[in-house]
Amino acid sequence: MTKDRIYLSPPHLGGTELDFVKQAFDANFIAPMGPQLAEFERSFCDLTGFKHCLAVSSGTAAIHLGLRLLGVGPGDVVIASTLTFIGSVTPATFIGAELHFVDCDEATWNMDPALLAQAIAEIHAQGKRVGAVIPTDLYGQCADYDALRAVCDPHSIPMLIDAAESVGATYKGNHSGHGGDTAIYSFNGNKIITTGGGGMLASNDKSFIDEARRLSQQARDDAPYYEHSTIGYNYRMSNVAASIGLGQLAMLNTFVTRLREIFAWYQETLSGLPGIEFVPEAAYGKSNRWLTVMLVDEQTFGAGPEDIRLALEAENIEARPVWKPMHMQPIFKGVPCTGGAVSERLFKCGLCLPSGTAMNNTDLDRIATIIKSMTQ
Ligand SMILES: Cc1ncc(COP(=O)(O)O)c(C=O)c1O
Repeated sequence: MTKDRIYLSPPHLGGTELDFVKQAFDANFIAPMGPQLAEFERSFCDLTGFKHCLAVSSGTAAIHLGLRLLGVGPGDVVIASTLTFIGSVTPATFIGAELHFVDCDEATWNMDPALLAQAIAEIHAQGKRVGAVIPTDLYGQCADYDALRAVCDPHSIPMLIDAAESVGATYKGNHSGHGGDTAIYSFNGNKIITTGGGGMLASNDKSFIDEARRLSQQARDDAPYYEHSTIGYNYRMSNVAASIGLGQLAMLNTFVTRLREIFAWYQETLSGLPGIEFVPEAAYGKSNRWLTVMLVDEQTFGAGPEDIRLALEAENIEARPVWKPMHMQPIFKGVPCTGGAVSERLFKCGLCLPSGTAMNNTDLDRIATIIKSMTQ
């Protein structure tokens, strides 16, 4: 008999989502506007400490809006983490900017500030302008915002923090995303909280979010008829999606606690095995441990991450390789990357283990037993 599938990071509903959705249905607010949407944005401001938040259809859309509002345009260079998901970097191409990738450091797996400084110098030496820097908070751990900021500030380069994976994480006591000019979050179905697809753009600058809101709704001018003087998008989150988000927000603390427990369990159970390591937690913050990532030294362990992934898959358990670095992607062939060896190693040795918050200890045992059986 096939065992129940264990997914990598499935949605986990807390129970109140339907109540909020019902309120939206009862009031017939089945549109990209409504009280639940407004409440979701307010609640997200409360959670993160940002003064203004705009809920949109995806994290990718939030980055697109953010870059545009930061004044990035054709010919500018956008510097981004190479070890990330592609949605972090494609928006730069939507506006005709060029990309330049930067490697991560071993300690945090996030953008290396020294390499960022090197990248900026290289780009400036070519006479190009850096429009923005996008550091990703990888797998729920914040990048070292202050160190990156210290590199950007002397050149007045804005920073858009890609906090898609770090909802509920902290940096020096603040919620993830604080430390740049703006931040984005994702509520994709695989994230720590979901709206069934969605994103958020956050800033302390009211005019920034007001203008992002206008652009997200086709950039309509202030006229009684449909008049447009600039190109906008249809990026607003729907009120129904925001209703799901309200129920999910109520669960966030529980999810962070459970994800950290899952990480600790894997670490305790598996790190004694030869050649196995886990992502370190930086002293400056608290990761939400969105996904537990294990590093496998194939020689020492006796099997590689792909062997383990396939063995888990044979038992109906989903695991995934670490993000393939952007500088290794066919579509970005020829895009410059400063450094690259660290993310290449993490891609080669890394495996994302099932990290669903609804998993129980029997599920975890099932996973660990298979991994343990593979060592030499
Ligand atoms: C680091 C990172 N950036 C951006 C995105 C894009 O977010 P979305 O899928 O909501 O467009 C994701 C995930 O989906 C992500 O993991």
